[in-house]
Amino acid sequence: MSQFKTLDHAQLSGQRVLVRVDLNVPMDASRVTDATRIERILPTLREISSKGGKVILLAHFGRPKNGPDVENSLKPVAAALSQHLGQPVAFASDCMGEVAAAAIAKMQNGDVLLLENTRFHKGEEKNDPAFVAELAKLGDIFVNDAFSAAHRAHASTEGIAHKLPAFAGSTMQQELDALTKALDAPERPVMAVVGGAKVSSKLELLGNLVKKVDILVIGGGMANTFLAAQGKDVGKSLCEKDLLDTARDILKGAAEAKCEIILPVDAAVAKEFKAHAASRFTDVDHVLADEMILDIGPKSVAFIEGKLAGVKTLVWNGPFGAFELPPFDTGTNAVAQAAARLTREGRLLSVAGGGDTVSALNQAGAAEGFTYISTAGGAFLEWLEGKVLPGVEALRA
Ligand code: 3PG
Ligand code: MG
Repeated sequence: MSQFKTLDHAQLSGQRVLVRVDLNVPMDASRVTDATRIERILPTLREISSKGGKVILLAHFGRPKNGPDVENSLKPVAAALSQHLGQPVAFASDCMGEVAAAAIAKMQNGDVLLLENTRFHKGEEKNDPAFVAELAKLGDIFVNDAFSAAHRAHASTEGIAHKLPAFAGSTMQQELDALTKALDAPERPVMAVVGGAKVSSKLELLGNLVKKVDILVIGGGMANTFLAAQGKDVGKSLCEKDLLDTARDILKGAAEAKCEIILPVDAAVAKEFKAHAASRFTDVDHVLADEMILDIGPKSVAFIEGKLAGVKTLVWNGPFGAFELPPFDTGTNAVAQAAARLTREGRLLSVAGGGDTVSALNQAGAAEGFTYISTAGGAFLEWLEGKVLPGVEALRA
């Protein structure tokens, strides 16, 4: 972390502090349905506010393509943020120009203001220097607390960090710290669990992980493609037939890198893709033509748990089965609970993140037992792929 300036290095009192946060939270009409990202930024906001800084929040919401629209307004999020923060959060209906400047001019030290969706301006995603300059005018210093948006080289995540003195907020710091401990400088052996539906979406990730981890457990729909690549008949299971050679290449790469690959040895199979569908357990060699694999089976769970007991570090992305359809969440739940238990016993450092992973671990009641749960989706995946995250790079002193 030494290469990043943090809030400890910032003079905050009386300063206009532009803070990039990730308020891209799930909403149902105007209600926030999961406030994790809001909760995570509170320490940074409180620290700046209590030290007398003016907290000016920059954030995106959704993926608007044609300027402002009601569905992608951050206004309802300001209300939710204010509740969680326990302090008023003012809102400005534009993130630049006179509207933003006037709202900022009214601020007292310690106040919090949320500016409207940065993506309402085309310059945001283009990282347009003119738009960057407009944003930079509004502040004296810049703090980035949005690791989960750091894979985007946008004006408010990357460009602005070059225009103002830039600092990492405490969530950004925590994320980087946890991810570094999990993959860049881990205690070995390291196991990675990668699940999810498709090999095609995780090719780079698998290619990078086999070089970095000691054991790679492949689950979810993508495991079927690997089983098929080994000549097994996976029936009606989700399987990317055009990627069998790619799957074989990944297995070869793993062998060269001395990374042990674990694939399911048994599975829960059903004829229908629905909750509580009639199902049975079978070895992966005996899946019938009209059956599909929807979860790993008990032998696989026991085998993975046994391996897990011998590792020091775990990185987890993606569920083992169709976890949204009970009972096909059984495998994910069992392994997640085992990981949480080992972590609580102080025997394992466990980090999880990306897309469905957090909801799967929450559903398993295991998320709290993990060492760290990243709030990042795409940024977590890009980090697992070994990519440089532009929003992080721009913070390096
Ligand atoms: C996310 O929700 O993963 C981040 O906020 C980034 O959003 P984006 O994928 O629309 O850039
Ligand atoms: Mg996303």
